[in-house]
Amino acid sequence: MAASDPRRALVAGICMSEQDVTDPREEARRIAGAFAAHLRHLQEFRGVRYVSAAPMPPGSPSAAAAEYEPLDQSGAPLDEPSVQREQTASSPLEASSPAPAPDVRSQAKSWSAAQKLEYLRAKNLGDCQRCPLAATRTKIVFGVGDADAPLMFVGEAPGHDEDLRGEPFVGRAGQRLNQWIEALGLTRSAVYIANVVKCRPPLNRDPEPLEVERCSPFLRAQIRAIRPQVLVALGRHAGMLLIGAERRSMGSMRQQVWTYEEPQAGLRVPVVVTYHPSYVLRQERDEAEGEGTTNATVLADLRRALALVTR
Ligand code: URA
Repeated sequence: MAASDPRRALVAGICMSEQDVTDPREEARRIAGAFAAHLRHLQEFRGVRYVSAAPMPPGSPSAAAAEYEPLDQSGAPLDEPSVQREQTASSPLEASSPAPAPDVRSQAKSWSAAQKLEYLRAKNLGDCQRCPLAATRTKIVFGVGDADAPLMFVGEAPGHDEDLRGEPFVGRAGQRLNQWIEALGLTRSAVYIANVVKCRPPLNRDPEPLEVERCSPFLRAQIRAIRPQVLVALGRHAGMLLIGAERRSMGSMRQQVWTYEEPQAGLRVPVVVTYHPSYVLRQERDEAEGEGTTNATVLADLRRALALVTR
């Protein structure tokens, strides 16, 4: 086939190099397979199939986790046994997901929130390589607290201390968050704390849109597992993600109680957006001694959130 052949040009453009093109029909099938795999990946990442629909082998989540391979590069959640993966996947893009066994799915429905989180951490998130932050992180920072907590806090992304410890909000911002939690008459272990992004962005920069896109399905799955009564978004990034806004100022998000919705999971959770503890710490440097205006504002927001908890 001549190099100017449009089919060849198309295939060569979409795929790798012209040397790889042997049979255009074969190549077209390969591309279709790659698109299908990508589509499945997007479906997973729309958050519909995590946790509640993840195929499960019999037994406890932790026992099952040991039988599974670490995550591959495709971004597909690790939800089929290694033997099936070996049969079907010769490259990440060609990996196909066998239909999950219905008995296993129904088994997962009866799990506790803690079991779902354990499965999500071990099996779906695993040694995540879905975005570039994997290359620079020390530890994945999944989440901490009571899986049955009525109140769930959502921050932005781990910082230096969190990256080293593998636990959210353990640095200076975390100390301030702990003070807020205590001011509500609660303890850190009685709430659940997670971030939009589970790995530290280098130099604590804002998470990139791709990082949020790849990682936020895990937050959504955590929310579905925990089913908190109220969500508190700490800062603008968490706020925009939870209320589904593209671009919004903190000022406008703080003014009302929003709703986090996942209709397929039958989930409608009130969301209160307030300032991030790091922002408050920065503000305090500029506020007059003892003023504490921003801190007081946050405490008022948090009390509004707590008032929405009914159990
Ligand atoms: N800031 C966040 O948003 N999350 C953490 O875990 C720590 C600091």
